[in-house]
Amino acid sequence: MKVLVVGGGGREHALVWKLSTSPRVKKIFCAPGNAGTAALAENVPIAAEEIEALADFAQGEGIDLTVVGPEAPLVAGIVDLFQERGLAVFGPTAAAAALEGSKVFAKELMDRYGIPTAKFAVFDDYKKAQAYIQQVGVPIVVKAEGLAAGKGVVVAREEEAALEAVYEIMEGQIYGAAGRRVVIEECLEGEEVTLLALTDGENVVPLVASQDHKPAYDGDRGPNTGGMGCYSPVPVFTPALQEEVYNTILLPTVRAMQDLGRPFTGVLYAGLMLTAKGIRVLEFNARFGDPETQVVLPRLENDLVDVLEACLTGGLPDLSLRWREGAAVCVIMASGGYPGPYEKGLPIRGLAEAEGEEDVLVFHAGTGFKDGEVVTAGGRVLGVTGLGKGIAEARSRAYQAVEKISFSGAHFRRDIGVKALR
Ligand code: AMP
Ligand code: GLY
Repeated sequence: MKVLVVGGGGREHALVWKLSTSPRVKKIFCAPGNAGTAALAENVPIAAEEIEALADFAQGEGIDLTVVGPEAPLVAGIVDLFQERGLAVFGPTAAAAALEGSKVFAKELMDRYGIPTAKFAVFDDYKKAQAYIQQVGVPIVVKAEGLAAGKGVVVAREEEAALEAVYEIMEGQIYGAAGRRVVIEECLEGEEVTLLALTDGENVVPLVASQDHKPAYDGDRGPNTGGMGCYSPVPVFTPALQEEVYNTILLPTVRAMQDLGRPFTGVLYAGLMLTAKGIRVLEFNARFGDPETQVVLPRLENDLVDVLEACLTGGLPDLSLRWREGAAVCVIMASGGYPGPYEKGLPIRGLAEAEGEEDVLVFHAGTGFKDGEVVTAGGRVLGVTGLGKGIAEARSRAYQAVEKISFSGAHFRRDIGVKALR
């Protein structure tokens, strides 16, 4: 079959790589893809947000299955459009993707259906939001309602920072319409865990858990990023906790979406905090995580086409997932300056040597070609995944490979997976 992957980051390279190992897949297209996907797929120069052009392409090319990576096209209705045209597509409809597209919708759903999350209030007036912050005090978390490329959340330890965040989001409109409303919520403390789950709108099959590292620098210091690295499994997230999340979060959320007439099909991403008072939802996303996918898919033994198809054709209850024993650790190599401004177009050296290492996968994120050479093209440049018997071995494989790769200004965290070893 012919498969189209929509997106061009590390998650999409991991999807393309996993699909390329399926005997059922004859040809893969990736739109727009990156220098890494170009080795396994044909890159198509259509941006992920150009959903009409993507539907035209899929129809013209006779694509049998489309997998959507990023949130923006989902929220814009790519799945609805493909379905209208009779094209098989993996992901939620726009109505269901509101679980990620509107933090107000997600919080109100959790409130109404008793799904554990941080206490919160919603504001559409910045002065009222500021008065509320002054009343309840810090630490406090300010979130723009809509999509802000992972940047719309400020965890404020000082009142000044919270007041300023509200002002910039609502009055300064730094995220445009995504900041018309804000969610202000209780600051939770604990370890974060991501649990991705497949769902057909009714049944739910969790994948293995992983832990992202959002802050830019070692020791969880510095500004939040899209994610600087990941590992799986997560030792603190025991099978009993996973069972609890299934029963108190995943299943009730999928049932709630059904109840609201917005059945959710695809991957439900639960961002969780393990607090002293119990598990709380930090956020839902409507898609595979990035970089979570770069540690989860390398551990999956099933054919990904079978798995995605099971979601779309009612086969989920009969699906049994098989996982590679051991662990995976992914280290993100980022451009100097990221998550702030950074230079692009810098040559990347040592990719072939790193890829040649045993049990190492080098996933490209922000890369492209210049004069036939692979160069940097984004903030997160590469995700280097190591596999091993345990986290320690997977870490050392990932870091050995990272040492072989260089580009000017490259920065990466040296402590990915360290929490799992304590
Ligand atoms: P989100 O995009 O909602 O996951 O938020 C991004 C990051 O902000 C999360 O991964 C957490 O590290 C942090 N965060 C979000 N909500 C809270 C909260 N209520 N308490 C503490 N940290 C939070
Ligand atoms: N790793 C965070 C995300 O995918 O949203």
